[in-house]
Amino acid sequence: KKKLKIGLVGFGVVGQGLYDVLQKSPALDAEILSICVKNKKQRSLPDGLFCYSADDILNNPEINLVVELISESEQAYHIVTKALKAGKNVVSANKKMIAENLNELVQLQKENNVSLLYEASACGSIPVIRNLEEYYDNDLLLSVTGILNGSSNYILSKIFDHNKDYSTALKEAQDLGFAEADPSFDVDGFDSLFKLVILTAHSFGTLVNPNDVLNYGISNISDFDIRYAKEKGYKIKLVGQVEKLEENKISLFVLPRLVQRDKYIYNVEDEFNGVVIKGLAYDKQFMFGKGAGGHPTGSAVLSDITAIAHDYRYEYKKMNFYNSFKYEKDVTIEI
Ligand code: HSE
Repeated sequence: KKKLKIGLVGFGVVGQGLYDVLQKSPALDAEILSICVKNKKQRSLPDGLFCYSADDILNNPEINLVVELISESEQAYHIVTKALKAGKNVVSANKKMIAENLNELVQLQKENNVSLLYEASACGSIPVIRNLEEYYDNDLLLSVTGILNGSSNYILSKIFDHNKDYSTALKEAQDLGFAEADPSFDVDGFDSLFKLVILTAHSFGTLVNPNDVLNYGISNISDFDIRYAKEKGYKIKLVGQVEKLEENKISLFVLPRLVQRDKYIYNVEDEFNGVVIKGLAYDKQFMFGKGAGGHPTGSAVLSDITAIAHDYRYEYKKMNFYNSFKYEKDVTIEI
């Protein structure tokens, strides 16, 4: 008998991506018992696998792992909190829901002795959360800086390298399944912001309210900006950064930045994401990989499912350690 009995909520780009990658993982001790979707339509899987209310999953005593992959964050919040309270482990990719409710979600995990993992919520296939949590569990970390949104990066790449216009590139990012249901989340910087807030919790143990962070997207970049950047040999990238300022202060921002050729993130193209981690003693490290799309993101969900099978949970060690860290609202912008 399989150990993990999964109730999957949502069968969009990431849900279907997960389904595919699970088929390629026969050794994993897990099976999907039920998939909750919004409405009936012709699908490639047997009808009996689908249900139309998340309660069918939450009330199913056989299901011990809820995988929440819907875009709507309020609904996701209700599903995830109910599941945790019912003693079920949860895997989620919902960055908005997680970033806005992390404090409560951490408490619920403790109180109910269950695990909530969300590697797929930030940077698609790049295992950044798990690494921040485990490898960087010390005082050395100085900053985490990166391209955190695949859609914006895809659009900027097409504008810079292929001379496409903004709306054609955005349409492509949507057609390829990279963009959020509401693409303004991507291009106005919110998707990057939620991811940055999650990375901050695992980098410095600080729970930051997303509303407190300066974020600015790419939708107002003008032709002039692009010409200027090109003339100087720069690219414009949407960058999210959290940086330790001094003993107990950090600063965060999401902003379009001019990036020089000698920077790691200069060569991060299309839907790829790239994260530069700076620290004392090791200088810089760079993590790079596909940041959006069904299979890359599905593979991060799969990794969380495997981790749950091994009873892994985030311990939020830095949250206990660094709970005195204050968020500094002022940002210094290099020009
Ligand atoms: N819309 C997101 C992006 C999907 O473009 O990065 C992955 O989180």
